Amino acid sequence: VSSNRVMLRSEAAEALENLFAGADDEGIYLYAVSGYRSYNYQASIYNPYSGYSAPPGASEHQLGLAMDVSSAYYGSTLTTEFGYTAEGQWLANNAHNYGFIVRYLPGKEDITGYYYEPWHIRYVGVELATELFNSGKTLEEYYGEY
Ligand code: DAL
Ligand code: ZN
Repeated sequence: VSSNRVMLRSEAAEALENLFAGADDEGIYLYAVSGYRSYNYQASIYNPYSGYSAPPGASEHQLGLAMDVSSAYYGSTLTTEFGYTAEGQWLANNAHNYGFIVRYLPGKEDITGYYYEPWHIRYVGVELATELFNSGKTLEEYYGEY
């Protein structure tokens, strides 16, 4: 169901609404592209060769805690350039205030296993998001897996 694709778990959904509203207040207009995905849907879009795609069973989108975010200019196209736009910069610098992290950071590809995804934010709560933002650590590093 297409409307499911921008759904998140309730706590994360509320946080995302606050994030979008906060951005809006600053003239930053974000666009929710892809949220919750079922196993079957993840399986249907999985591309093992892309470096941007998690196997079914291993995607944060299946947890209902991740959202892919874009801007009006890019629409539903998710591209690295988004990271250099005002919207992408705002997201990178402010998402933690709403409990989200940009999950796949540039220069951390070997640690996360994925290319830089400026559009993919994951809900972890304000406290941890702020700690990760301030330290520049990924979740893997925080949990001592690296
Ligand atoms: N793009 C991220 C890695 C996912 O498919 O969950
Ligand atoms: Zn994503």
